[in-house]
Amino acid sequence: MDASVKACQSALADLEANDKLIAHEVDQLKSFYLGKKSQISQQYQSLAKLPPEDKKSQGKALNDVRMALNALIQEGYARAEKIAVNKLLGKGVDITAASKVRKPGSLHPLTIAYQEMVAILQTMGFVIESGPHIEDDYHNFTALNFPEDHPARTMHDTFYLKDSERLLRTHTSTVQVHILNRQEPPLRIATPGRVYRCDHDPTHSPMFNQLECLVVEPGCNFSQLKWLLLKFCEAYLGKPLDYRFRPSFFPFTEPSAELDIVWGDKWLELAGCGMVHPNVLSEAGIDTETFQGFAFGIGIDRLAMMKYGINDLRVLYENHVEFLEQF
Ligand code: PHE
Repeated sequence: MDASVKACQSALADLEANDKLIAHEVDQLKSFYLGKKSQISQQYQSLAKLPPEDKKSQGKALNDVRMALNALIQEGYARAEKIAVNKLLGKGVDITAASKVRKPGSLHPLTIAYQEMVAILQTMGFVIESGPHIEDDYHNFTALNFPEDHPARTMHDTFYLKDSERLLRTHTSTVQVHILNRQEPPLRIATPGRVYRCDHDPTHSPMFNQLECLVVEPGCNFSQLKWLLLKFCEAYLGKPLDYRFRPSFFPFTEPSAELDIVWGDKWLELAGCGMVHPNVLSEAGIDTETFQGFAFGIGIDRLAMMKYGINDLRVLYENHVEFLEQF
């Protein structure tokens, strides 16, 4: 049996001399010399047939050979690994070089803003809802009391789909229509989401994020709306605000107003709001004697810009790492 140890030794040496010793080949040698069909395994099987006095000495001899082969094979694996590493080094891999630094990612500032706003509204009893971005004329305009050809539609000039029946929603007020049609009041819903308009300058982007809040409850009124909208803004921006409600017009609210706040040395328009127009409620089959509603729509992007001191809206959508990693 010493013969197998010698043969194994020289097989390993040959492979090594050719610089070819790889773990896979050591596997093959291992199975040839120590595997189930190897000579040594057969010898172990024939031990049983030997007379007891020979069994002991033969058994010991076989064990010695097996251990010697095993040691050779383990050595073979170690040398194969060394050869593999040397080959890599030869190819110019510098294993002492510092690894690439992977910086941990972070949430986009608008996602952070969105999450903070939603958390505030949930404490005020609002349920978060969403609606489709592709709408029809009915949900974007008609059901919201925009008469056909009314000039108020111009402000909402948007992107029409090829069939020109459908469009990208210009405001989140569309979700009011969906919700009023499928839920019974009383309700308090908040619908954050993307909206689209043909606008592009430092403070307007063709796509931006709005947050719409709608309350439909018996006896709700304009002073509740004012309080709620202001408290929401103060909670998000984290400080008391100088504000004014300026009369405005939206076809779906009456009376309507715009909330401006003092930011720096200027008045800044922050939200549109008003009491839901009875035509909007009746269109959804809601009894306007029992229920009143109020709503506001606020720009998530604009509020986030204020909080973080960003003066160009477009940086929020350009995805420059230098900008994003500040959050
Ligand atoms: N939808 C209006 C806009 O986008 C904002 C608004 C929402 C006004 C709710 C009143 C009530 O300009």
